[in-house]
Amino acid sequence: MRLKSLIAGYLMAASPGAAQTLPTIAVPESGTSAYEFALSQVSLSNSRWMDNQNRTLNYLKSVSVDRLLYNFRATHKLSTNGAQPNGGWDAPDFPFRSHAQGHYLTGWVHCYATLRDSTCKDRATYFVQELAKCQANNGAAQFAAGYLSGFPESEFNSLEAGTLKSGNVPYYAVHKTMAGLLDAWRIMGDTKAREVLLSLAGWVDNRTKKLSSSQMQTMLGTEFGGMNDILAAIYQLTADKKWLTAAQRFDHTNVFDPLAAKQDKLNGLHANTQIPKLIGAAREYKATGTQRYLDIARNAWDFTTSAHTYAIGGNSQAEHFRPPNQISNFLTNDTAEQCNTYNMLKLTRDLWTTDPSNTKYFDYYERALTNHLLGAQDPSSNHGHITYFTPLGAGGRRGVGPAWGGGTWSTDYESFWCCQGTALETNTKLMDSIYFYDEAAVYVNLFTPSTLDWTQHGVTIRQATAFPVADTSTLTVTGAGTWAMKIRVPGWAEGARISVNGADAGVDVKAGSYAAIERDWKTGDTVTVKVPMKLRAVVANDNAGVAAIAYGPVVLSGNYGQQGLSAMPTLALDTVKRTSTDALAFEGTADGKKVALGPFYDAQGFNYVVYWKTSGQLKG
Ligand SMILES: *[C@@H]1O[C@H](CO)[C@@H](O)[C@H](O)[C@H]1NC(C)=O
Ligand SMILES: *[C@@H]1O[C@H](CO)[C@@H](O)[C@H](O)[C@H]1NC(C)=O
Ligand SMILES: *[C@@H]1O[C@H](CO)[C@@H](O)[C@H](O)[C@H]1NC(C)=O
Repeated sequence: MRLKSLIAGYLMAASPGAAQTLPTIAVPESGTSAYEFALSQVSLSNSRWMDNQNRTLNYLKSVSVDRLLYNFRATHKLSTNGAQPNGGWDAPDFPFRSHAQGHYLTGWVHCYATLRDSTCKDRATYFVQELAKCQANNGAAQFAAGYLSGFPESEFNSLEAGTLKSGNVPYYAVHKTMAGLLDAWRIMGDTKAREVLLSLAGWVDNRTKKLSSSQMQTMLGTEFGGMNDILAAIYQLTADKKWLTAAQRFDHTNVFDPLAAKQDKLNGLHANTQIPKLIGAAREYKATGTQRYLDIARNAWDFTTSAHTYAIGGNSQAEHFRPPNQISNFLTNDTAEQCNTYNMLKLTRDLWTTDPSNTKYFDYYERALTNHLLGAQDPSSNHGHITYFTPLGAGGRRGVGPAWGGGTWSTDYESFWCCQGTALETNTKLMDSIYFYDEAAVYVNLFTPSTLDWTQHGVTIRQATAFPVADTSTLTVTGAGTWAMKIRVPGWAEGARISVNGADAGVDVKAGSYAAIERDWKTGDTVTVKVPMKLRAVVANDNAGVAAIAYGPVVLSGNYGQQGLSAMPTLALDTVKRTSTDALAFEGTADGKKVALGPFYDAQGFNYVVYWKTSGQLKG
């Protein structure tokens, strides 16, 4: 109960003015010993990260809301307001159209939560109101009460009868609408969103409680997003057991059983179909305390990050898991689907809160966010368009390639891929995992320029850093009190040092641990963290002669300009050296020719090499 009031306290404190309507956790959470801050408590400062956020916000604030509502209104027999229908995965004949809109809703909610931006708030509020009207018109559309989607309810008849057209994934789409509504309720306090969400959840419950468990399990063979996650989240907020029962109907036995038994049977599975249900398993653990759920989620995380993940933190090739440790044989143009990493980061932070002294979680988070997601946005697009896959074959390039099957960038109205939707969230919540807290400490998990408003302690902490271009970060405290600052010392950061007000902090600072500075803080106290970087080879699990090169947390790639490559060049490791003291610029010799290397997140507009055949050893 103490934890319950702690969480409730943060929700109240976090959002002045909206406190009365924000829901609080109604079921004490099991197994959690660190907590997220509300988005409104953390803001980014000018940086590469904020540039990404700004570009995505430009799009979110200009995209036509009526066009996004088109399929919902048409399906629920309301006027489409003369709006033009969209193309791509939201075209009126695309099977799971309307799957993306929940992400737009969440993007607006994030924008409002972090910036108090009224355009974003108005858009989110309007969108929810219009969805409510669609749902209220179900009689005319001959849908059961509560149904809400951009395609007809009859798709669910086909799903249950096993006659659904292959490639269609109706619950996957409904899950995303529910997730957007949940965020509008949970983060913005929108009670209309609550009403629409609970009614839609009621429809899911009605629909699924009629099925036998074997019918249900058969149906779960079709991608269903994180239905277990969203329903368990509703249970946590309402304490109504029926939502937990509904959530558990979506526990997918074929996937959960081997994971619970610590068996890696991921080979051949569609990767992003699995990760959301594992996020659900982590949530179900927190909602019930059932250890098996935690085992499933942890084992899946361990298998995925250790045996199925490329150096940049992404997984999957052609959207699928390959045999464990197969890396060098699957370096193609359709590697590392972006959605998977968005979902892995969610799973990572969820698991970390159950084991917050373990740095492996945020070592991975840093790796994947920096090397995969940051650079998956086109820096020359004012609308923050993104690439679906991140090619990792030699000579790959972001932003070119056959339709979504390669690396092409998304567009305003002709794409609406899964990865476009998730990237709207990624780039509007870049602040959500920098800091966490418990009763007596604040955790610093990421080195990102930002300000934390730790209202619970009447303290602000401002973090200034050019990381990862520079290897130091400075945290300045305003306010007073006795608490600990627990700083993640990354596993790669041998020789890290921490000082307080210019003097050695006098605490253990070991790579791969949290350094805890406990003191009576006062305004102006300054903590300086130095995390020395050096060159590292990230060797492919399946081939000791193939590696990516990293400098500290940053994966480097070779710049091959417009040159096509038919095979991996061989990089002489002992030739790799830094060529600048202030920029992350390097060079080396590959196949006898000099090549410039730089951060992979900046490899834009040219052909690159991430994985090399290697000879010799890195120096220093
Ligand atoms: C990004 O947006 C913020 C306001 O939200 C603004 O202060 C900042 O200057 C913008 N940065 C760029 C590069 O446009
Ligand atoms: C669920 O089914 C019950 C009984 O058939 C019905 O009364 C109720 O309105 C339904 N609820 C929803 C949200 O569909
Ligand atoms: C991969 O992408 C590169 C860069 O666009 C292209 O030159 C190459 O032909 C692609 N390879 C395959 C197998 O499609």
